[in-house]
Amino acid sequence: MEQQKKYLFEYKGFYFSVETSPEYVASLEDFEINDSDIFIATYPKSGTVWTQNILSLIIHEGHRNGTENMETMERIPWLEYNTKDRDYADLPLPRVFATHLPYYLLPRDLRRKRGRVIYVTRNPKDVMVSFYHFSKYICSLEEIPDFNLFMERFLAGKVLASSWLDHVEGWCSHAEDFNILFVTYEEMKKDLRSAVLKICNFLGRKLSEEEVDSVVKQATFENMRKDPRANYENLPDDIVEKNKGSFLRKGTVGDWKNIMTVAQNERFDKVLNEKIKTLPIKFIWDIN
Ligand code: A3P
Repeated sequence: MEQQKKYLFEYKGFYFSVETSPEYVASLEDFEINDSDIFIATYPKSGTVWTQNILSLIIHEGHRNGTENMETMERIPWLEYNTKDRDYADLPLPRVFATHLPYYLLPRDLRRKRGRVIYVTRNPKDVMVSFYHFSKYICSLEEIPDFNLFMERFLAGKVLASSWLDHVEGWCSHAEDFNILFVTYEEMKKDLRSAVLKICNFLGRKLSEEEVDSVVKQATFENMRKDPRANYENLPDDIVEKNKGSFLRKGTVGDWKNIMTVAQNERFDKVLNEKIKTLPIKFIWDIN
């Protein structure tokens, strides 16, 4: 854990990147929520950037028709990583934030059902594989070239955002405290249009057929990958190592099968499979 301290710190049982501080995270408890606020909550690598882009396309016509050039991070900033020290009270309404926070560290008002939360989950094996590749690409994470070691850290929750199971379990079992919509990466892959309509419905947004078509078209993996804003290509070199990957990597379901050995798969199932069966919500992904 010594080396990891350079990258992560623990606050109330949860690992954060050192890009934020315990004091800032603690202050979020009192963060004021507007009824129109929307939070995209995820465990890392579950489809955050995808959902950020979908929301930008749904909410901002200028984003949809290409008349506005704004970086995703500017439009939908990270709640707990306010690296540019922006005054979030000044953001135009509706404000949309991304967060990896566990349910218990969210602003108090959100837990009183002000604002809305969209919580995205993904098959944890694909999450882990995506995370493994991402840690090579992003400078703020420790690069762990040995996949087996990365898997052990992931299973032990000794990674950014701690344990995948605790995160998902916590959000699911406290769903009643929030105005919340659960979406899976896999359902977005299977039928993006239905997922977009489900999100529109949750947000009370009525888009025309043509507008929905346009959102769906621009939110496909291929089209997002071509869009430098959607693919976070304008990040500086001290944040990402551009020769080692990209935010939009493969965008598939089941990529874990290309990297995990039979033994690693059995080990993963031994640790997580039974516990996943006890989650209070059944998701469409199946870890196998
Ligand atoms: P892979 O590494 O498996 O390709 P997050 O945004 O939470 O960090 O998640 C990143 C994962 O979502 C990456 O997975 C990325 O490729 C995938 N992703 C992003 N946009 C996508 C899209 N439009 N379609 C499918 N997958 C997408």
